[in-house]
Amino acid sequence: MSLLFDYVTTSPTTILGAVFLLLLLYVVSRSFSSERSSNEPPGPRPLPLLGNLLQLDLKRPYKTLCELSEKYGSVFTVYLGTDKVVVLAGYKAVKEALVSCAEEFGDRHISPIFHDINQGHGILFANGESWKEMRRFALSTMRDFGMGKRLVENKILEECQFLMQMMEQHKGKPFDTACPMNYATSNIISSIVYGSRFEYDDPRFQKLVRRANENIRLAGSASIQVYNMFPRLVRWIKNRQLIVTNAENTIRDVKDLILQLKETLTPHSCRGLVDCFLDRKQKEEQTVKDTYYHERNLIFMITNLFAAGTDTTASTLRWGLLLMAKYPHIQDQVQEELSTVVGNRQVQIDDRKNLPYTDAVIHETQRLANIVPMAIPHKTSRNITFQGYFIKQGTVVFPLLTSVLYDESEWESPHTFNPSHFLDKEGKFIRRDAFLPFSAGRRACLGESLAKMELFLFFTTLLQRFRFTPAPGVAEDDLDLTSSVGFTLTPSPHELCAVSRL
Ligand code: HEM
Repeated sequence: MSLLFDYVTTSPTTILGAVFLLLLLYVVSRSFSSERSSNEPPGPRPLPLLGNLLQLDLKRPYKTLCELSEKYGSVFTVYLGTDKVVVLAGYKAVKEALVSCAEEFGDRHISPIFHDINQGHGILFANGESWKEMRRFALSTMRDFGMGKRLVENKILEECQFLMQMMEQHKGKPFDTACPMNYATSNIISSIVYGSRFEYDDPRFQKLVRRANENIRLAGSASIQVYNMFPRLVRWIKNRQLIVTNAENTIRDVKDLILQLKETLTPHSCRGLVDCFLDRKQKEEQTVKDTYYHERNLIFMITNLFAAGTDTTASTLRWGLLLMAKYPHIQDQVQEELSTVVGNRQVQIDDRKNLPYTDAVIHETQRLANIVPMAIPHKTSRNITFQGYFIKQGTVVFPLLTSVLYDESEWESPHTFNPSHFLDKEGKFIRRDAFLPFSAGRRACLGESLAKMELFLFFTTLLQRFRFTPAPGVAEDDLDLTSSVGFTLTPSPHELCAVSRL
């Protein structure tokens, strides 16, 4: 110790180095605190360079942010490294920002990992005119292909049969619900995008689904959060390499699928969204300079629709089945209502209005499952004074959807599975303002009506046919409702039995 002390006191280089480091820390910390002194949202004091990193649970940042909102209120600031983030918490703040100030809060923050794999193209991680055009095109084309209407209803009902066959093969024995649910939801988007579904045993399809899910899981890992904060320092980390390789392989497959469609394209007869895009691309190439209808936008629109639409819907359905196995008395009530109202015939979307309890269970599943806990990060498109605080243009914004879906001033029992949240005293279904699992405003989920239709038809058809129970030897109480770590919240790995009711 004394030797060390001697060395420290006698080495001029060390002293100079220490003085320099202290000065640097001082300057950076001054710059943080001087920014705070103007009228900006409050927040925990950041450390130089690290920001509030040490205070955050990087695997479940939404939890720490909810806790911080109790101390700092509904609009507060945290620093992820040196990146400043404004967090919006609770129904009122989130709704006011995303709906009443939709323009100002409507840009997407594109973190380094999503920039690496999308390069500003497509819908999810794009901004400006290109985003606007691609979003408009995807929405109107998906509507033309029946999103929210009978055409898609039939596709979902057809897919239900394949899904049930796959579950039937397990003959009531325990199985992991992940693959069947992901294949079924992915096939709905496939039929809208490509014009046809895939066979569940098609190796290319299996890989496309696996890679999309793996990337969503890896994108939420702690090491990717660190990469997003310090992209130049930790480019080499394993999870980034895995994500990039998965994305490259998927792009290769998608290009191949586009090529097959191109070779069989008939003018004026679109089988799916890809055909419509190619048609438009051909027209615009001749008439519009710098058209947005180019191949990169097509590729990333496709990968975005799959990434955003497969895992979210499949995970919600898996949560639904898990909750039914955990709370058999609620499953009893759903099945009773289905038997009385629908009987043995195929469920249809029109039945929803006569199935208030089942509808409430699906909504409550979405609320509690909280699939996208912090929405997808936004960015302010211009300076704004919001709830008395000044927020600069280009500031990253987290609309903390968890704090809306679990808002104590909006929900009677926010942390328990309680379908009564969506029922009035007479047992009729009621909408709730704070039900925002699809977010709101300019960036709200583009597939909301499709997802709602899928959730209703898949869930009811499965419950009509099967009784879902824990694996033998596992008590209902032991079914774990802790979610896996990832960009979206999926159930932890588990197995259920689907026992035929026929
Ligand atoms: C239960 C199912 C789903 C949930 C809970 C969900 C939720 C969300 C959320 C929270 C966002 C981010 C909104 C924001 O940034 O404020 C989002 C965006 C998006 N979702 Fe969904 N989603 C679901 C299903 C789907 C489906 C089936 C599709 C497509 C067919 C889809 C396509 C998209 C797209 C393209 C975006 C990006 C919108 C943009 O940036 O303009 N989603 N979704």
